[in-house]
Parts: sequence; structure tokens; C-alpha cells
Amino acid sequence: MARASLAGRSILDLASLSTDEYSLVLDTARQMRQLMSDDVKKSSILRGKSVVTLFYEASTRTRTSFELAAKYLGADVVNITTSNSSVTKGESLRDTLYTLEAMSFDVIVMRHPVEGTAAFADKVVKPIIMNAGDGAHAHPTQGLLDMFTIKTHKGSFSGLKLAILGDITYSRVARSNIAGLSKLGVEIHVAGPKPLIPKFVDELGVKVHNRVEDAIMDADVIDILRIQLERQKVGLFPTSREYARIFGINNGRLKLAKPDVLILHPGPINRGLEISPEVAYGDKSAIREEVQNGVAIRMALLALTLGGAK
Ligand code: CP
Repeated sequence: MARASLAGRSILDLASLSTDEYSLVLDTARQMRQLMSDDVKKSSILRGKSVVTLFYEASTRTRTSFELAAKYLGADVVNITTSNSSVTKGESLRDTLYTLEAMSFDVIVMRHPVEGTAAFADKVVKPIIMNAGDGAHAHPTQGLLDMFTIKTHKGSFSGLKLAILGDITYSRVARSNIAGLSKLGVEIHVAGPKPLIPKFVDELGVKVHNRVEDAIMDADVIDILRIQLERQKVGLFPTSREYARIFGINNGRLKLAKPDVLILHPGPINRGLEISPEVAYGDKSAIREEVQNGVAIRMALLALTLGGAK
């Protein structure tokens, strides 16, 4: 069997990566975590390489961690905020990509509100494309960092019960987690308000529950999604207070899960809506660890795709 390799590959979604490629990324991220704990967090494996981040949507975690990851590995980084760029003058995505290609960037890290734009970019320009989120379609680097966080705590994936709660319809994180973790043998349950559960959810191979309590019963991992108010064109649940009462995760509800349950949330959190502060900052929460792992995963992906990791 050929050894897994991501050299020269764009990272567009998790469905198109094999489980051997997931393992390669996670093993490399483990080495990157060691580098991150050094006094001098600097390697030269990407010296001479250049990375540009192109974000058409807001981001704190993903954009910053890609920048930090590239800098730790010695690459040059440029950040484009579209609100300060020629996008505001009407430049198309294709022309923006051509412009960045002409500047000889090796990697374009891209977030865009429209599904399929990362795959489009991969077709029209030569640099490696890192999909940092395209609409509700995919957020592969978040999926990998969640995988890494689960592996660190649980050791393996097979037989684990994962509950994904809340806004499945509008969540690219949910889709990437389902695509990746179901391939690894994780049993996935979802729950949320009916309008936030997509009609095609059965095709995703997950178990759907009306009540959050049924989804989290004996769960090993609970991934609580942000309610993406910015993507909802009409109110899809009555009030925030109702949502918190029926679907919010608090210490009381958490007792239904396994005693060593791991709490994940991609961030940013809506405090007191989908998650209570005592759960978000409690001893079962790995939310801040997800952020640290996000840097390691992005270091691993940059190193592997640019061919510099040993
Ligand atoms: N999890 C995540 O994508 O966070 P940001 O929107 O801050 O990048």
C-alpha cells in the first residue's frame, strides 16, 4: 500500500481524505504540539514559502492560527481582509485569486460564505488551497482539530458515542465532523430544533433525536455548535431563552452523559444560549485546548502539503 502523502494537495473537505491521511495529519500535529511547547517556537522547514489568508467572513481562531502556524514554521505570511481590499471595488473572486497567483503565493487560506468556492479556487489557480470554511459546506481544519482533541483524550475513535447539538443545517463544522469521524467508526447522534436539522440528515448516516437528552445519554463526546444567527434568514426558534431551556447544555443536563465526557465547541460561543459558562469553562471542557490544537493541526497541514515535514 502506498504511504499516505499530502504533498502538493489542497485541503478542501474531509470526505476526500483517507483515514491514513487523517492519521498522518494527527501524528504530525502531535510533533507540532511539541514544537509549540519549546521556548523558541520556530522551525525553518517552510523558510522561503509564502502563505496568504483571504477571508470574506469574520474569523478569530482560524485566521490567526493559520498565521501563527505559518510563522512558527518560518513561512512569510500576508493577511487580506476583504473589507480593506479591492473586493470592495467589485473585483471578482476569480480575479482576486489570479492576482494572488501572480504574486507567487504557495498557499491561499480562504474563507468564503458561498459553498464550493474553495474547490473553485483549486481549479482556477495553482497555489495550494486551504479551505478555512465555505458556506455551510466544509471546515476541514476544524474537523481535524476536533479529531486530534478527541484522540488526545480518548486514545482511539472506535465505539465512541458523539452527540452534535444545535444548528446542524447551517454548520460546516457539523458536516466536517460527521464526514471525518463517521469514517473512523464514531457513532454520531444529533439533536436540535427541527428547522436546524437538515432534511437530508439521514443520508449523513447519523441518528437524529428530537430531545437533546436522548442524544447526550451516555455520550463520550458532546460537540455543541454555535447558533449561527448570521446565516438564518428568519427566526428558526422562538426565543433565546426558550432555546437555552430546551437545548442548552448546562451542568444538570451534563449528568446524562458519561462521567468522563469531553465537551467541544468550535467557538465563538453564544454564552448562556447553546452552552452555559460553567460547562464552557468547567473541567470537562476542551474548548481552549481545541484552539491550541488548531495551531498544531494547521502547522501539520502546511508542513505536509508544502512537502517540508519529516
Ligand atoms: N471555529 C472557527 O472557525 O472560529 P473562527 O470563526 O473564529 O475562525
